[in-house]
Amino acid sequence: MPLLGLQLDDNLMFGQVISMKEVSEDQQKKVDVLIRARYPLIYITTWEEERVAVMLNALAVRAEKQLIIWSTTEGFSDFSGRKLDGEAVDPFAALTYITDYQRPAIFMLKDFHPFMKDPVVIRKLRDLKIHLSNLKKTCILVSPVLEVPIELEKMINVVDFNFPTLELLDTVLEGIIEPLKMNPRVDVSLTEEEREAVLKSALGLTVDEAENVFAKSLVEVKRFDPAIIIQEKEQIIRKSGILEYYHSNEHFDNIGGLEHLKEWLSIRNRGFTEKAREYGLPFPSGLMLIGIPGTGKSLTAQAVASLWKLPLLRFDVGKVFGGVVGESERNIRQAIKTAESVSPSILWIDEIEKGFAGVQSSNLTDAGTTSRVFGTFITWLQEKKKPVFVIATANNVNQLPPELMRKGRFDEIFFLDLPSPKEREDIFSIHIKKRGREIEKFDIRTLVGLSKGYSGAEIEQTLITAMFDAFSDDREVETTDIMNALEDMVPLSRLMKEDITALRTWAQARARLASKTEQQKKPNIEIEV
Ligand SMILES: Nc1ncnc2c1ncn2[C@@H]1O[C@H](COP(=O)(O)OP(=O)(O)O)[C@@H](O)[C@H]1O
Ligand SMILES: [Mg+2]
Repeated sequence: MPLLGLQLDDNLMFGQVISMKEVSEDQQKKVDVLIRARYPLIYITTWEEERVAVMLNALAVRAEKQLIIWSTTEGFSDFSGRKLDGEAVDPFAALTYITDYQRPAIFMLKDFHPFMKDPVVIRKLRDLKIHLSNLKKTCILVSPVLEVPIELEKMINVVDFNFPTLELLDTVLEGIIEPLKMNPRVDVSLTEEEREAVLKSALGLTVDEAENVFAKSLVEVKRFDPAIIIQEKEQIIRKSGILEYYHSNEHFDNIGGLEHLKEWLSIRNRGFTEKAREYGLPFPSGLMLIGIPGTGKSLTAQAVASLWKLPLLRFDVGKVFGGVVGESERNIRQAIKTAESVSPSILWIDEIEKGFAGVQSSNLTDAGTTSRVFGTFITWLQEKKKPVFVIATANNVNQLPPELMRKGRFDEIFFLDLPSPKEREDIFSIHIKKRGREIEKFDIRTLVGLSKGYSGAEIEQTLITAMFDAFSDDREVETTDIMNALEDMVPLSRLMKEDITALRTWAQARARLASKTEQQKKPNIEIEV
């Protein structure tokens, strides 16, 4: 069968690459232990029924039990597909069959969750419990979603079935490469590093999805391209609803100044590679960027994703708070799970203080929902094992819950101040070049002198204003246009003088300076306007 329904010509057939569906040792062990400890009901969340069936069959054979598989369309059959009872398609009949079955067995029930809304089914499952463990029978519910009614919560054990490991993906990839090695029409050669990049970009996909997207990449560009593979993850993220897959066009070189911050990020550029693991390094975990509006916090988050070549997931905390009771907690868990499933990834929380503004008063205002959601988030932040790098930004520290800033939550907290003269020079140059003009044509020194107290965003804005002015006069933009624009604008720092002073005082004690400036050790408490 041609993959993706693509009709490839003879020389490009992929053959039977889908031969292997095995499961990591770890995962097998987890399920095996539960079965042998006679947990009667186990719930496995996954899209990959086939991989689960193969694993369960292996466990069943080893324990000399039978594996019996049920679905509401087919009733009961064994692992080889032989029908045992094709009539028992309704859930109650299924549970009766299981009750009456007299030998040790593992029952795999596909997509049973919709039926667990029925009170009769719930009761029947509860009655089944003791009976099952006495007879060495185990029911394994396999569904892509976790939906357990409260009555059953305490008697069901949930196992999150992990996505394929790098090793498994490597085997899948090899299965595609092998038959095509001699094919002159595609380039399946990969250096060790390229191979790692390709495999990493496929983490979070199921075996089938990975296989399809590897093939798709070959069809589209005749080689394995991580960028095409990452697009596949975008689909997963879009379906989750709360995270947004952010396409970053920002380049690291487009950040003016902020040398300390850039250095920190560059040093960690290879922090997600296997080499770094072998070296004994942990994954970079997270970064907090605090500062005056328009100083390049969001810009940095976007540029890092390009630098590190990782998917950038924008997380709008506000979207978590749903209307129905319990929904917000479910949403935050879902968001975390999605970010982890496509990891290594960057989770970007812009202006985090807004999302969690209500934490302190949460008990009074929303029955503690915000506070619980926040709790789930910071616990995860502290304990996460998966390589999800968190970048949070904030303009206002007064609204930040203090717990967020405690040690261990982020690797580092950076403070982004207004740009120094040298930094303003960089920023002018970057934006002038970005708009296709030569910097030599402008008197940058004068502009730097006139832009004291202006943020990067404001500098960019004055340049745009100047260009509009010149454009409407039908002439080329020049230094005086920018000078006029600077004069016309009142920078935020002049309006927010007290706020900025307070922010600097706060940062002095708690954050590292993002910029290498003359006053490196101490931010300038006096505002320079
Ligand atoms: N240090 C900088 N270097 C270059 N451009 C900058 C810098 N700071 C801000 N800008 C410009 O201003 C825009 C807005 O900045 P942004 O990163 O959104 O600020 P904030 O700190 O409020 O998140 C950026 O997209 C960029 O064009
Ligand atoms: Mg911003």
